Amino acid sequence: MSGTLEIQPADGKLGILTPGMGAVSSTFMAGVEAIRAGLSLPIGSLTQMGHIRLGKRTEGRQPLVKNFVPLAGLDDVVFGGWDIFPDSVYDAARSAGVLPDAMLEQLREPLSAIRPMTAVFDQYYVKKLHGDHVKTGLSKMEQAEALMDDMETFKRENGCDRLVMIWCGSTEIFLERSEVHESLEAFEKGLREDHEGIAPSMIYAYAAIKSGVPYANGAPNLSADFPALEELSRQTGAPICGKDFKTGQTLMKTILAPGFKARLLGMNGWFSTNILGNRDGEVLDDPESFKTKEESKLGVLGNILQPELYPDLYGDLYHKVRINYYPPRGDNKEGWDNIDIFGWCGMPMQIKVDFLCRDSILAAPIVLDLALFLDLARRANLGGIQEWLSFYFKSPVVPAGLYPEHDLFIQQKKLKNTLRWMMGEELITHLGREYYDE
Ligand SMILES: NC(=O)c1ccc[n+]([C@@H]2O[C@H](COP(=O)([O-])OP(=O)(O)OC[C@H]3O[C@@H](n4cnc5c(N)ncnc54)[C@H](O)[C@@H]3O)[C@@H](O)[C@H]2O)c1
Repeated sequence: MSGTLEIQPADGKLGILTPGMGAVSSTFMAGVEAIRAGLSLPIGSLTQMGHIRLGKRTEGRQPLVKNFVPLAGLDDVVFGGWDIFPDSVYDAARSAGVLPDAMLEQLREPLSAIRPMTAVFDQYYVKKLHGDHVKTGLSKMEQAEALMDDMETFKRENGCDRLVMIWCGSTEIFLERSEVHESLEAFEKGLREDHEGIAPSMIYAYAAIKSGVPYANGAPNLSADFPALEELSRQTGAPICGKDFKTGQTLMKTILAPGFKARLLGMNGWFSTNILGNRDGEVLDDPESFKTKEESKLGVLGNILQPELYPDLYGDLYHKVRINYYPPRGDNKEGWDNIDIFGWCGMPMQIKVDFLCRDSILAAPIVLDLALFLDLARRANLGGIQEWLSFYFKSPVVPAGLYPEHDLFIQQKKLKNTLRWMMGEELITHLGREYYDE
């Protein structure tokens, strides 16, 4: 298809900046340091461990993704970010308790050197948090300008050629899109006038996109998912994507549900509940932050099962999601799913899933892949929404008028075909006619 797409080489250093340097961010950074030190493998990362088939099956071409598309190497990435607490990444990783202390001890030097810049924060948007490592006395527009200055300073001091920003901050309260989000002009006016509809995550997103820096949103807040910032991203050529890293229970849902649908098994109930005890769990204990998360988690099944096309199978589905804050478990969440399905002659069956998962362990490779793929998209001059990265999100952002694709396997096909398209390789349809074509 393409072949003409010009991709700038990944020369020099890539700065990966995360607003929010808690469990996910520190686990991501510690993991990359562990890989660099030869202590670990990049397990769970498509960019590092995944292969991609090219051409016909008979050709036997299956290079590693990182050898097929020009990605920044792990030795060329530099980490930074912002948090409302001043802890270094070493301290944040220790208090998150995701990785063993013995492992962190071996990475103490590089991780202690990564310290957060002062955050743009307002407790109105995350009720359960109090921190004073924040910028004060500025209007929202001045906060955005201060973040842009931070990025420039970081780039200069760390000798970076390019930056990407991935929101790893807490889930903010549920905000509806309103007039202030509808156009860039309204949004910039809102920034100057401290409009209540503009949350801190939107200020970070604006600062990144305005500077031409790619932006991904790992949480379910609106952040960049509205026309004003989409308009800006097309103007500046900054690739954007979101929302809400697809880990844990929702990952399982988007793996299992396409299978039931493929076999035309009916479903009338899916109840999901889980316990988790990290700071994210505490934030989600606030009903307003939970509502943002709930919206993100509930959308998935309807899209995969298409009850409007299959009313007899999925027209009567009851879908419920609960999150319970339970401190003893820390980051090690336990998620239970009860799935009520039915088959031939309407006979009911039940499936129980008990996933003892480690949330940040599942999220960390997503942060890495997003950073490297967004940087690739930037060098390939692909601005605006990157739908091919839906693979990584619970609520994929899509251009107006389109519905998001949630089926993990369709998402994977889309991602890999996009890489083939970028490199001028034939798209793979799995049509199965290759023997006849030869
Ligand atoms: N862990 C997962 O598997 C997973 C999956 C999907 C989404 N997420 C989302 O990713 C985000 C991070 O998760 P986590 O487990 O690392 O949470 P965490 O609470 O450990 O870390 C979040 C950090 O963000 C900081 N923060 C909050 N508001 C900020 C602001 N305005 N500026 C800078 N820093 C700010 C907090 O101080 C905290 O250190 C959450 O929104 C969570 O919902 C996580």
